[in-house]
Amino acid sequence: MAMKITVIGLGYLGATHAVAMAKVGHQVIGIEPNPQKIASLSQGKAGFFEPGLDEELAKQIASGRITFKSAHDEESREADIHFICVGTPQTPGSMAADTSYLVSAINDVAPYLREDALVVGKSTVPVGTAVSLTQQLAKATGFSAPNLAWNPEFLREGTALEDSLHPDRLVIGVTNPRAEELLRQVFAPMIAEGIPFLVTDLATAELVKAAANAFLATKISFINAMAEIAEVSGADASSLAKAIGYDERIGNKFLRNGVGFGGGCLPKDIRALIARAEELGVGESVAYLHEIDKINLRRRDRVIHLLQEELGTLSQKRVLILGAAFKPDSDDVRDSPALAIALLAKAAGAEVIVHDPVALHGVALKHPELTLEQSLHQAFTNVDAVVLATEWKEYRELDPTTVTPRNKFIIDGRNVLDVAKWQQAGFKVQALGRTITN
Ligand code: UGA
Repeated sequence: MAMKITVIGLGYLGATHAVAMAKVGHQVIGIEPNPQKIASLSQGKAGFFEPGLDEELAKQIASGRITFKSAHDEESREADIHFICVGTPQTPGSMAADTSYLVSAINDVAPYLREDALVVGKSTVPVGTAVSLTQQLAKATGFSAPNLAWNPEFLREGTALEDSLHPDRLVIGVTNPRAEELLRQVFAPMIAEGIPFLVTDLATAELVKAAANAFLATKISFINAMAEIAEVSGADASSLAKAIGYDERIGNKFLRNGVGFGGGCLPKDIRALIARAEELGVGESVAYLHEIDKINLRRRDRVIHLLQEELGTLSQKRVLILGAAFKPDSDDVRDSPALAIALLAKAAGAEVIVHDPVALHGVALKHPELTLEQSLHQAFTNVDAVVLATEWKEYRELDPTTVTPRNKFIIDGRNVLDVAKWQQAGFKVQALGRTITN
């Protein structure tokens, strides 16, 4: 049965969720204070690079199931469910998550909330946030028991819409049967598909998300720690990952060694979990996450070390970084390992050229010290070293005989290149997590 819902906050999470909800048949109002975003969304442009999203957004606008507004109005009162999808970035100067956008979202929706409507948080939050937001909602509405639930989102950038429509599982944290009933209705098409639907309390639902991202970050740093050992012992971390991955208890996913994890989620979420655990007096339980973070950041330094081993000082040297986005199929450069390596090479004295198929617009204004190059082949002109830092398809499939840097040296930061092919084309190849004989 189609329901009327609002989706508050239309960044990555909110825009994707709004489109997914419209696609499964609900009537959606997307709410976002930024008027430029509203104008762009209303014209079918999500405002970030996500394969397939703009096409589906345009379809849903045409179907009449989705509209956008810069603030709530009387129409919001008709909604049965209000999904809150605002960001919870790292607080500057602290490891903790900034939950102030959630507080504003609650205050904004309060005057338009029916007493029988449900507010559902989807943002990634420190455990305990939902309880304090419920108290705040009670104050702002005057309702004795406002209904607030938590439904963490597990979508990945690059496959966001698909992940929203067909998630591995749905988790809902609720405090009463009506909330569960409403959420079963809104997710009915997914439940009918057989997607596991887990009903928990609020704290568990909040913590599930933090735990999932901490586990994923741990898997990546685990294999990167093995890579550090491989580098000094002559072993090959990629073969090692393959070998341990055949053990079903370990699994082969998220064991790709390389320059490590970045993006708007994994790095800030492990830090937020550390901060929250410390507040709760159990900091030791996740103290190991400090190491996970450090291993991850050390991979970036390793690339600079390999460059210096090859070139000596980087001063007067031209270094090409292939990739700026934190991963392929995304234009997100938040905490991007590729961008961090570019800036480290620059700080070490190199002239740095950065290529990326879609993410350069996010770098241009913030980092005028980097030279941005749109043409992949042009980017190789007169460079002394190349670092593959984001595994875009165009880099994986690049024919090395068609590029002519002045010094043929490449570091494979993601372990995706056919080493023999690059060597045949005259390149000296280095990679993370193994020692290559050239
Ligand atoms: C991550 C989680 O995977 C999602 O489940 C979660 O919903 C999302 O955060 C979030 O909290 O919103 P995402 O940030 O889109 O999704 O990116 P991932 O695919 O998890 O990749 C994160 C980083 O890890 C990337 O920089 C990627 O290059 C790196 N990575 C991934 C590796 O270095 N090795 C791997 O084996 C896998």
